[in-house]
Amino acid sequence: MTEILDAVRAGAGPEVLADLPMPTSTRAVFVRREDQNLFDGVPSEEKDPRRSLRVGEVPLPELAPDEVYLAVMASSINFNTVWTSIFEPVSTFGFLDRLGKESFWGKRHALDYHVVGSDASGVVLRTGSAVRNWKVGDEVTVHCNYVDDQDPASHDDSMLGNQRIWGFETNFGGLADISVVKANQLMPKPTHLSWEEAAVNALCNSTSYRMLVSRNGAPVTQGDKVLIWGASGGIGSYAVQHVLNSGGVPIGVVSSEDKVETLRELGCEYVINRREKNYRFWKDEHTQDESEWRRLGKDIRSLVGDDPDIVFEHPGRSTMGASVFVTKRAGTIVTCAATSGYMIEYDNRHLWMKLKTIKGSHFSNYREAWAANQTIVDGKVVPPLSAVFPLEETGEAAYEVQHNRHEGKIGVLCVAEREGLGITNPELRAKVGEERLTIFRRHDGEE
Ligand SMILES: NC(=O)c1ccc[n+]([C@@H]2O[C@H](COP(=O)([O-])OP(=O)(O)OC[C@H]3O[C@@H](n4cnc5c(N)ncnc54)[C@H](OP(=O)(O)O)[C@@H]3O)[C@@H](O)[C@H]2O)c1
Repeated sequence: MTEILDAVRAGAGPEVLADLPMPTSTRAVFVRREDQNLFDGVPSEEKDPRRSLRVGEVPLPELAPDEVYLAVMASSINFNTVWTSIFEPVSTFGFLDRLGKESFWGKRHALDYHVVGSDASGVVLRTGSAVRNWKVGDEVTVHCNYVDDQDPASHDDSMLGNQRIWGFETNFGGLADISVVKANQLMPKPTHLSWEEAAVNALCNSTSYRMLVSRNGAPVTQGDKVLIWGASGGIGSYAVQHVLNSGGVPIGVVSSEDKVETLRELGCEYVINRREKNYRFWKDEHTQDESEWRRLGKDIRSLVGDDPDIVFEHPGRSTMGASVFVTKRAGTIVTCAATSGYMIEYDNRHLWMKLKTIKGSHFSNYREAWAANQTIVDGKVVPPLSAVFPLEETGEAAYEVQHNRHEGKIGVLCVAEREGLGITNPELRAKVGEERLTIFRRHDGEE
């Protein structure tokens, strides 16, 4: 452990931190280039993140002018770390090599190890010479959009330009004691939250915000019925809260009674337990069953009296046919992923005859991430933190997410020594309510 990290733990001020030397290396979670073929021939579900995610000391790169070194107090597991760890659908070393060819600073990323992680809360340790709005000692959270500000398209919407996801398509991600972050990824840390509660939100909350609140997605208006797959999962648990905040009516789909309870506590009145309903949208690997789509549609109508105006899609191949079918005439299917397979099949007649739209969405731009962060800062959206692991056990945490054994989000402690630290606004915390802030901690997702 280094002096500067000990000082951060002790709550040292900016003057003290600025005077202490920066270490030349950091503890981090990474995959190795030499392991890229580790799982060749192994079925996807048997590819084990615990074998490929390593924890060890890696050198810190030189800081570019627009970057900061961040002491990462806590981070989180996102599904992209699962993808990186099992080298699917592609090895992420290809992303790093491409970034390496772009510029002098990009070259630092093309290494034989990839430090992963796309979320963080922490304390700024150093700022590059071009950083204007942040200073040493600032307490922040980090969004993961790594933007190329020299691409003209980025100046319309930074998701349209040459953008990458930090810690997935770039190196030096958040699952480390010290990370390298662009200044335009930083946002204020919510003062009423602990480090681990603050760390889990940015990636999933911003994604759901763009999909359901921003004009770039399928914005919910009062009374809209919104079907949300995986409604107690990472993105789903924020989606439910955004729909409620917008005056819409969420219909959550989950796979256990405990998850049904979680959603009810969150304020989601209408919940479908897909395991209990045992939908079989696919008769076999190649044939879908329209009568099962119809059964889902009937179940939704019996709950809310109507078809959904919006479907929040991400399971992909297993559900997309049903999602397109059940969406209301002129409604929208907004999708950001395809966990169960990206070669999608749906009956196009139901799309064009009923004037429906499929809208693609990916993460969010800085403005959207900032607005999404504000919903957390104001206590309007609560972090769905369900479990916390130490950095050394990141592989185990990723394994939980890979096998859908979790609810909401899993936090990872990095520099923070224990849970519950970092709360500087107990009054706001009391106002939001301990009960509400810990809904997901009281549930484990099991039957
Ligand atoms: N494009 C982006 O910017 C972006 C951002 C964040 C996440 N993502 C992607 O979105 C996906 C979900 O991420 P997440 O963090 O929410 O993951 P998560 O925490 O694992 O939650 C996903 C939930 O979806 C449900 N689900 C999974 N497979 C399903 C299937 N075949 N049929 C129906 N429901 C299914 C499960 O809930 P139940 O078992 O309870 O139904 C699961 O808990 C991942 O593929 C991730 O990579 C994309």
